[in-house]
Amino acid sequence: MIALITGLTGQDGSYLAELLLEKGYDVHGIVRRSSVEKFDRIAHLTDRITLHQADLLDQLSLIDAIREVRPNEVYNLAAQSFVPTSWKQPLLTGEFTALGVTRVLEAVRAVDPEIRFYQASSSEMFGSVRETPQNELTPFYPRSPYGVAKVYGHFITVNYRESYDLYAVSGILFNHESPRRGLEFVTRKVSWNAARIKLGLSERLSIGNLEAQRDWGYAADYVEAMWLMLQQDEPEDFVVGTGVMHSVQDLLEIAFDEIGRDWKEHVDLDPSLIRPAEVEHLCADASKARDLLGWEPRVKFDELIRMMVRSDLALLSGGAGT
Ligand code: NAP
Ligand code: GDD
Repeated sequence: MIALITGLTGQDGSYLAELLLEKGYDVHGIVRRSSVEKFDRIAHLTDRITLHQADLLDQLSLIDAIREVRPNEVYNLAAQSFVPTSWKQPLLTGEFTALGVTRVLEAVRAVDPEIRFYQASSSEMFGSVRETPQNELTPFYPRSPYGVAKVYGHFITVNYRESYDLYAVSGILFNHESPRRGLEFVTRKVSWNAARIKLGLSERLSIGNLEAQRDWGYAADYVEAMWLMLQQDEPEDFVVGTGVMHSVQDLLEIAFDEIGRDWKEHVDLDPSLIRPAEVEHLCADASKARDLLGWEPRVKFDELIRMMVRSDLALLSGGAGT
């Protein structure tokens, strides 16, 4: 089996590449040109995967990459994925995160409509939630330009499936984290800064909304659900999450407990980090994934956050992270 991953250099791309290599796949990834190479997350894999230069903004580069690789499966993980940036760069976010999906789908159609396609959709589409927990039938109400762009990506995937009979699926994944998470996302921001405080490298951490609640899982568990979605007889969309919510305050309590400190003595509330429109709480009903895919999350929130803090302590002490 041959797989092509867009967003290979991101958190999920690196875990998915590991999983597919374990399963014996020939793994290819799309990387965009940069003045410095940002291959930290895949450095341990580069001798076993093949990289292709292409960009979600450039239709021909995507067609060329797919023509060169001739994959059985395409996983479209690339996106501008940080919600606050989507207010600062709404048009670019729309180009990458919304129209980029159509470009990849068009490339699939042009080269080989038999290719199976996975779209990385998001619980951020539920936004101001219409019901709790959220399942595949819950209406969307996005609260950020990123969320709006993901709704487009979701429906263009559904539409290409229905219009052209493609095996194209949308995985509606709730927040998933890991030691490879970008430093700007709240879990990694907290684990990294807690580790710095423990090592005496800093004293303070600025945080925005303490009350926001998310359904946080472990990224390595979630890439398995992506793969399972492409192995079914019929293409279908799935919600993937743990069904358990925690607040940003819970996150601080666990991370600072891991370093043996009281978070209240180190955290400043910074109003500039409050978003123009917030998603207050998200919680998955992943029963369809459990029943049809046999998928279950393995790592729980407490274990995940402690794993991230320990990894950052090791990294900041000059060792290797996880
Ligand atoms: P991430 O760490 O931010 O990785 C994003 C990837 O997209 C990077 O490899 C990035 O490449 C690539 N990319 C961005 N713009 C591109 C462009 N124009 N052309 C080609 N590649 C481009 O994101 P992640 O956490 O792994 O998430 C993977 C996907 O799942 C994203 O689509 C995200 O929106 C979605 N998602 C994530 C979560 C979550 O909790 N993690 C939940 C639901 C959905 P560079 O390295 O060059 O920047
Ligand atoms: N980043 C960040 N930084 N978030 C903070 C902070 C802070 O200092 N303080 C509080 N928060 C709150 C945010 O307001 C938000 O409610 C919550 O923490 C989670 O923020 P992020 O970790 O940035 O993730 P996100 O939920 O906005 O988006 C992530 O999950 C989506 C799935 O629901 C991203 O991975 C998206 O790409 C993904 O689609």
